Amino acid sequence: MSKSILVANWKNHPSSLNEAKSLLNRLSRQSKLYKKLSFFIAPPLSYFESVSSRSKNFVHLASQDIFSSIRTASHTGEVTPDILKSFGVRLSIIGHSERRAMGETSADVSEKVKTALQSGIIPLVCVGEISKDQDGEHFEFLREELELSLAGLKRKNDISRLVIAYEPVWAIGKHAEDAVEPTDLSQSVMFIKKILTDMFGRNMAERIPILYGGSVEPGNANNLLHETGIKGFLVGHASLDAKSLGVIANSLISK
Ligand code: 13P
Repeated sequence: MSKSILVANWKNHPSSLNEAKSLLNRLSRQSKLYKKLSFFIAPPLSYFESVSSRSKNFVHLASQDIFSSIRTASHTGEVTPDILKSFGVRLSIIGHSERRAMGETSADVSEKVKTALQSGIIPLVCVGEISKDQDGEHFEFLREELELSLAGLKRKNDISRLVIAYEPVWAIGKHAEDAVEPTDLSQSVMFIKKILTDMFGRNMAERIPILYGGSVEPGNANNLLHETGIKGFLVGHASLDAKSLGVIANSLISK
């Protein structure tokens, strides 16, 4: 993806279809802005139809998770990659910390990444340490999480379609002043690039975009983009406010 990437993770919001539709209407007033980005919305499944029908011309649909298999056997409660694709889903968030907190392991994540790739869906693989740490211990955590989550990937064609999101868990769901500092972010991004280089070689690693997520708001978007090496944002709460998301999108465009 040559353009900057903006992924709006709506999580389990807004709380009604009507609110979702009115948010989409407000976002569509800035469609010209969003067309300058690779812009994805990952809504709750029940809003897929509305997002894909109302905003096709400026948004790509994303899912917040993916089932770990392309098997066609019956699995009550699961949504298969084929169903996701039938709505036009192009990207799946995989290994979000809120799913890992419910028991998803990095081994599960690696299965899901492979399933996404087999299905022609871009895997957006989330990694990030759980608590804030001053001693650099989170680097080892990050290494292990990345190596296990991306285990078994060998084909150049697969590796070149990966996108990574660095989302330190301690920074999620707070405010701009609680997000990661740009200097710490650039160190983590450098470290992630080093791990990817160790795993896949420099040429392939350089092609993997790294996004940042965790309390991205209008007040910190510019700073987070300043020489930190990130290619875009994975935005939670601020993506539910059209004005805030517009400011964040503008930061990405003018970076
Ligand atoms: P917030 O932007 O609300 O911190 O959420 C980040 C996130 O979890 C996006 O996936």
